[in-house]
Amino acid sequence: MRRLLVRTWAAAFGGLLSPSELREVSRRWHGVAALAEQTRDKGCCSAVAVSASGRLLGLVTCGRSGARAAFLNRLYVRPGRQGGGLGERLLAAAWRAWPEARSMRLEVLKDNDRAIAFYRRHGFRVAGRRSMRLEGKAVPLAVMEASRPGRRSS
Ligand SMILES: CC(C)(COP(=O)(O)OP(=O)(O)OC[C@H]1O[C@@H](n2cnc3c(N)ncnc32)[C@H](O)[C@@H]1OP(=O)(O)O)[C@@H](O)C(=O)NCCC(=O)NCCS
Repeated sequence: MRRLLVRTWAAAFGGLLSPSELREVSRRWHGVAALAEQTRDKGCCSAVAVSASGRLLGLVTCGRSGARAAFLNRLYVRPGRQGGGLGERLLAAAWRAWPEARSMRLEVLKDNDRAIAFYRRHGFRVAGRRSMRLEGKAVPLAVMEASRPGRRSS
């Protein structure tokens, strides 16, 4: 899990952080201890996509951010397997993990056009923008939000 995250996450953030900054942030976010803590957290749910031979192909982590709201913490598909429908299936698994959630929010790099196109296709819209400090740099994010598929937004 850690190896998949380090590789896929670094590809997305590579244009913003130097290799040493990428290593440092990834050590904090994707270290085995941090991931183990998340798997114990009952407010946080992960699903994985695995090949027939047991290779990890993708993962999604989603938490509850209110009585009826979910927050998508991460969605990553192994490079080389992207574009094959795994992202869609993992996103569906995130919705299934929180059946009471009426809406889901996420934050994505503002310039990650492909991911934003993917989320738009799945009902998300840009609800706002914010900036996150990472290694002293301002990282621009798009905040996206969707209603549960199949529900009419009120
Ligand atoms: C974004 C991501 C999770 C989508 O998963 P996926 O399995 O590639 O998506 P699907 O196969 O279900 O859907 C494909 C669609 O997603 C979009 N897409 C986004 N990133 C893509 C990529 N790197 N390769 C191919 N399609 C991608 C395209 O719109 C594509 O539609 P198209 O076939 O008409 O071009 C995945 O591409 C990924 O892990 N990207 C890198 C990490 C990332 O940006 N994660 C999101 C951070 S919040």
